[in-house]
Amino acid sequence: MSLNHRPTICEINLKALGSNWKQARQKVPPDVTMLAIIKANAYGHGAIACAKALWKCGARHFGVATIEEGIELRKSGLKGTIFVLGGLLSKKLAVFEAYKLTPILHHPDEVARWGKFVLKRSKKIPVHIKMDTGMGRLGLLPEDTKHLLQVLAKNPKVKVEGLFTHLARADEPDQSFTESQLKIFEEIRQFVFSQRPDVKVYHVCNSAALMDGRAMSGMWVRPGIMLYGAYPNPRQQKAADLLPVMSLKTRIISLKKYPMGSSISYGGTFRTERESLIAVVPIGYADGLPRLVSNRGSMLLKGKRVPIAGRVCMDLTMLDVTDVSGVAMEDEVVVMGRQGAEEIRAEEIAKWAETISYEIFCGISARVPRFYL
Ligand SMILES: Cc1ncc(COP(=O)(O)O)c(C=O)c1O
Repeated sequence: MSLNHRPTICEINLKALGSNWKQARQKVPPDVTMLAIIKANAYGHGAIACAKALWKCGARHFGVATIEEGIELRKSGLKGTIFVLGGLLSKKLAVFEAYKLTPILHHPDEVARWGKFVLKRSKKIPVHIKMDTGMGRLGLLPEDTKHLLQVLAKNPKVKVEGLFTHLARADEPDQSFTESQLKIFEEIRQFVFSQRPDVKVYHVCNSAALMDGRAMSGMWVRPGIMLYGAYPNPRQQKAADLLPVMSLKTRIISLKKYPMGSSISYGGTFRTERESLIAVVPIGYADGLPRLVSNRGSMLLKGKRVPIAGRVCMDLTMLDVTDVSGVAMEDEVVVMGRQGAEEIRAEEIAKWAETISYEIFCGISARVPRFYL
């Protein structure tokens, strides 16, 4: 017996995840290590299930944003390296040791703090150092590199395994900013590697850069969005055949005929221009369907696109199904995914909602149960 009463569900296709992983693998030189980015509950797909599926595909390194995300994965029995990309994030650094989490250090003060902590530790815990080469977020600035080496020299027990940076504009058609970030990083890397031969690992590429073929032999890469089957940018659609991992489905819970001139949903922003058949589906912005798709987006019913009529409510959305014949209560409606020959991908919903696929995935709320296929 199914535990969920409401017919709104999220299906997570782990085979698609595996296929995307393989495609990423094929796009990088064979010696490249892939660090799977599974932060934010694997972009809303369910971190534990995704990590386990990726492990079966050969993934041994995982990236999360927070200590809590790392602990959840460790407690689930996940082996391998778990990087906490958000930095130390805690006053109690022993948590990294207790759960075998790998910190990234992004500021000279963090390096010093970590240095103080590991002083009393017998076992060395590897760390990766993040450089800010143009992202303008976390990371040591290029001009801090010498200072970093001085701080490291004062903290000999800090075991730096890797050096990395994050690209701010890798998805854009104009690659000049990315080129400049890569150049800055390469200079830093060569300098650090020359001074610290113990540092052996470096990584730069996110999905967009990986798909542009920027991964070089010896590097690590950090793909995220492409694993979930979304393209970082439409220009990259030809670079791989990514399979969407998440589908969002629901069913009609009300079906009524309205006379011409009726107003539908809050604010009356949709008025029927003819006698109209309006279906209600139990999904709203509290489930993660952005309110911006009101009167803009569509869903799939009987393999056809049906327009969203009026404003998306907290728990409900109306569809104009007048042009579809044979519609009945409880018919399946696909919000995201495939039905027959039609498909609505996260990228399309993101366009309606003036955002990115990442936000669509992450926004699907916890009240939508995930079913793993
Ligand atoms: C540090 C870092 N590396 C890698 C990624 C993965 O990026 P993408 O999902 O674009 O592949 C992210 C995601 O934001 C990130 O923050």
